[in-house]
Amino acid sequence: MQMQALVSAITIAMGCQLLLPHAAVAQGADAGAPTPAAPSTPVAPRESVQPQPVQAQPVQAQPALPRPEVALPTPAPDSPHQGAGAPQRAQQRALAAERGRPLYLKYCATCHGRDGDGHGPSAAALEVAPLDFTRGVYKFRTTPAGMIPTQRDIERTIRLGLVGTRMPPWSKLLSPAEITLLAGYLMTLSDRFWTDEPPPPVLEIPAEPRADAASIARGQALFGRMGCPVCHGTQGHGDGMIAAALRDDWGKPIRPFDFHSASPKGGPAARGYYRTISTGHTGTPMPSFVALLKPDERWDVVHYVMSLRAPRGVLDYLLDPAGRMTIP
Ligand code: HEC
Ligand code: HEC
Repeated sequence: MQMQALVSAITIAMGCQLLLPHAAVAQGADAGAPTPAAPSTPVAPRESVQPQPVQAQPVQAQPALPRPEVALPTPAPDSPHQGAGAPQRAQQRALAAERGRPLYLKYCATCHGRDGDGHGPSAAALEVAPLDFTRGVYKFRTTPAGMIPTQRDIERTIRLGLVGTRMPPWSKLLSPAEITLLAGYLMTLSDRFWTDEPPPPVLEIPAEPRADAASIARGQALFGRMGCPVCHGTQGHGDGMIAAALRDDWGKPIRPFDFHSASPKGGPAARGYYRTISTGHTGTPMPSFVALLKPDERWDVVHYVMSLRAPRGVLDYLLDPAGRMTIP
């Protein structure tokens, strides 16, 4: 607890130089149109070190965004938030549970637990705890810190897996339809997906500007001013002042990412970095910088941290710009 307060204090202190002007500018720049009132942020269960102003900000000030997953051509079964009434929602939820459970038990329960609580038989052997899906707290999202992810976010994680952890990519083994069923099933495990709340706003990732030397230099300066070195280390080796003391919401020690390693969990593509820096990893000390950094500045930081990467290995040359393997 004390440590969390300290971390917040340090992070905020180091970021405060830019805090106010940027919070205002970032919102204006993001919204384009007149900025609507911030949607009420549901209280995240035991949010870890998130600087306060960040939590209160929507990722994009566009509350009425359509849920992309609803419009998907592939069957997006039983997606919540379709404006259905409570009885209908309960029915959808039961159906999604029934359809997805067999796949879940077959492929996922060994790590994530029969009931999705993260206590599968193989879980103890894992270095990073597999997620407890019943809490509805997800790390890998395009939605604001502490909010539920979109169905697409969950599908992306299942498809690509989490590099550097034991969570494998499933796209080779399972069809897109099966992955959709699984994402639908995971959503049935937490009540947070089945409320009257409007869906959270979704992060828009603008086109990536050129990663030239000027952008990298600006990114390096911002990296220091935002307090990233406290956790990630001055050289970005994941060995910052408080790195060794950090724990995730599940009480397990968690290491800040080493930018010199080639395998970020969010995927090796620049967009993955942009997403993480914007929305943070809820449940871990990695904060959201959406209110502290303007989109351009986030790209500058992405360019800087990506410039630290170890020279590309053979495998990297087989990835397309989205970080997907180009050979079957
Ligand atoms: C070998 C163990 C293992 C198996 C099998 C496994 N997972 Fe995971 N999974 C993990 C671990 C470990 C994590 C946490 C990694 C982290 O947070 O760094 C994880 C994380 C996830 C997440 C990330 C949620 C988030 O955003 O925080 C999703 C979604 C997920 N798993 C879905 C699945 C599904 C669906 C299956 C079955 C098709 C599955 N997993 C099978 C180990 C496993
Ligand atoms: C309070 C500590 C803390 C601060 C401050 C912090 N981070 Fe992190 N960061 C973490 C931790 C811990 C992780 C690992 C999260 C995980 O494994 O899920 C992480 C992960 C990341 C990742 C994800 C890598 C991956 O595996 O996909 C990126 C990118 C990142 N941080 C960038 C930054 C940048 C840029 C800043 C400053 C603007 C910053 N972080 C500030 C603690 C911090």
